[in-house]
Amino acid sequence: MSEPRRARRVHVDTDPGLDDLLALAFAAASPELDIVGLTTVAGNAPLEAVTYNALGWCALAGLDVPVGRGADAPLELPRIDATHFHGADGRRGIPLPAPLHAAEADAGAVLRESLTARGAELLIALGPLTNVARLAASDPGLLDGLPVLWMGGSLCGGNVTPAAEFNCHVDPHAVDAVLDSGAALRVIGLDVTGCVRLREAELSAQRWPGTARGAFACALLDALVAAEEIVSGQRAAVLHDPTAIAAALDVDVLRWERRWLAVEAGDGPERGRMLELPGGDGDAPLFACEVHHERVRRLFLERLVDWCAEDAA
Ligand code: BDR
Ligand code: CA
Repeated sequence: MSEPRRARRVHVDTDPGLDDLLALAFAAASPELDIVGLTTVAGNAPLEAVTYNALGWCALAGLDVPVGRGADAPLELPRIDATHFHGADGRRGIPLPAPLHAAEADAGAVLRESLTARGAELLIALGPLTNVARLAASDPGLLDGLPVLWMGGSLCGGNVTPAAEFNCHVDPHAVDAVLDSGAALRVIGLDVTGCVRLREAELSAQRWPGTARGAFACALLDALVAAEEIVSGQRAAVLHDPTAIAAALDVDVLRWERRWLAVEAGDGPERGRMLELPGGDGDAPLFACEVHHERVRRLFLERLVDWCAEDAA
């Protein structure tokens, strides 16, 4: 009889954020993944808000792992947030339980320990790459060959400006640093995540368990629909960050091509535009070109509903 497969240890760097919170729930709901640490980064909302959300989410999920309070601004450029979409608190006022513990002050140490002492085999980054870039600078070689899945970038235009995707726009210098870090980087950009949508009709047909987690997940999805309507006029929940979790569960939900990538770093209208360069030496990052969106949506909903039902509250 074959041994049951061990869960893959992962560290998640995140800026929660409505879709980040859903992605975290999707990861926690998946027995194939074992979250060993979290770090937060200013992105969707200021650092205090996203760190509170990560801690409150841990309380809801019953997950007792270190949470490191990370960068409160990009490496070089002025800070930008997406509070017009995610709300001033990063969760549009959706209630969370009070955190059970405080955040660790040094996110670099939390991330380093996840990758060493806690044995994380995969880093999933769901926000601007500032923390990851800082680690690459402080610990040269630590990211060498490490599988990193990053939701960010786009070769098909932007969502925050016509040129740029939000995570890439916030800290383009960090993207450059991670592209140069030696990490085995997979880039999951708007080209694919923009296609992974749950329409309002599908969501209202879904029955959610009457638990605290059920109320939370349902409220997050409703808030995503309301926010999307403001920015694009469409009533659908776009699953950007959950698509990165789907890729961690099954890399074949996406079709990948090696692409040499660069990013515009100036603080003008082109800030954060991702560019494709002609080939160079060594291995280019893998860029997600196509998505089996139906598989991602189905997996996401099944796992999320199970996670909500598991909650005794
Ligand atoms: C990305 O930007 C953020 O607003 C989302 O959380 C996601 O990580 C999509 O462009
Ligand atoms: Ca995010």
